[in-house]
Amino acid sequence: MTISRRGLMGGVGAMALGSILPMTNVRLAFADESQPDFTFAYISDSHIQHIKGTEFVRNWDRGLERAVAEANLMQPKPDFVLYGGDIAQLALPQEIDHGLEILSELNYPVHYVMGEHDYYLDNGEYWSKRLGPQWYSFDHKGVHFVVLNSILTYDSWMNKWSSGEERMGVMAGLDDPRGSPFMVGEEQRRWLKADLAKVDKSTPIVVASHSPLQKIFKNWNFWTEDAEDVQSLLQPFDKVTVLYGHVHQIQYNQIGNISFYSAMATAWPWPYPRTYAQAGNLMPELVIPMNRADPFFERDGTGWQFIDINDGRVAANYSLTENQPRIVYFDKERGHPVDAEYAGIETAPQLHY
Ligand SMILES: [Fe+2]
Ligand SMILES: [Fe+2]
Repeated sequence: MTISRRGLMGGVGAMALGSILPMTNVRLAFADESQPDFTFAYISDSHIQHIKGTEFVRNWDRGLERAVAEANLMQPKPDFVLYGGDIAQLALPQEIDHGLEILSELNYPVHYVMGEHDYYLDNGEYWSKRLGPQWYSFDHKGVHFVVLNSILTYDSWMNKWSSGEERMGVMAGLDDPRGSPFMVGEEQRRWLKADLAKVDKSTPIVVASHSPLQKIFKNWNFWTEDAEDVQSLLQPFDKVTVLYGHVHQIQYNQIGNISFYSAMATAWPWPYPRTYAQAGNLMPELVIPMNRADPFFERDGTGWQFIDINDGRVAANYSLTENQPRIVYFDKERGHPVDAEYAGIETAPQLHY
């Protein structure tokens, strides 16, 4: 289906309400046709969790299985799938294997991003054994894609635990004060600089990371310590999009030339950080992960997304398992991403950035 941008602004709510599987791909027809349109699917944060023997947490399995089934039913077909990280809950080989077995049902090539839940047991060794390099780039239909491992941290912190299990257990908590901030690190930033040196400034760039390459909320590690250094490498390009997982909720932002879009999890939703409420201390500190936001909806707040790239800009089409689809796209007039549902409404600036 091709609709005009005007059509998108006015009609997307009704279309979204009416959409049933197999999903129809919404294409945004922009004036500049010099870049080909294409789509890819984005699945993230499945947190496959081993119980014992051949048992895994059923709810997390179901979330991933549903995303895979829906992605396979998409028309037109996505060119590939990006997996946004946190396949596993505690980075156990059996969790990674089980997650990859479910993902192997996808009818498309998959590019993988490292999450902290895949990493902190064994420094990502098993993940790399199955999936290869932890950072890399590739070109697709005129867009330069970069995948980063953004969940590294200080060596001093890595070395202070008596076992990988202990280290993973601490990093697995959303709000564990013993955790440590994520970072891309100097080695990868050097690699990124060299990689981008070969790319024309007008080439659209899409960066996939697990943690946001921006500083949102340190207490929950919705945070990348060297975000500004990474951003400064990306700012010289005309069209830059960062897609990230980890936060298990819809977020979007614009910093200079860089548009940021988050992915939802297939496992469980995280609540908005306390700062989002803009009324301090009303949200209690979390000590255990929530199973779901609403106990009456097993899959509440979870989902996956397909990404539409037109003219080098991204539209994130969120497919929520128990709710209406949402679309967040880059608004050329405003120069930042907007939620199509609220595109005509000037909202107050978000104060938490
Ligand atoms: Fe996650
Ligand atoms: Fe994560």
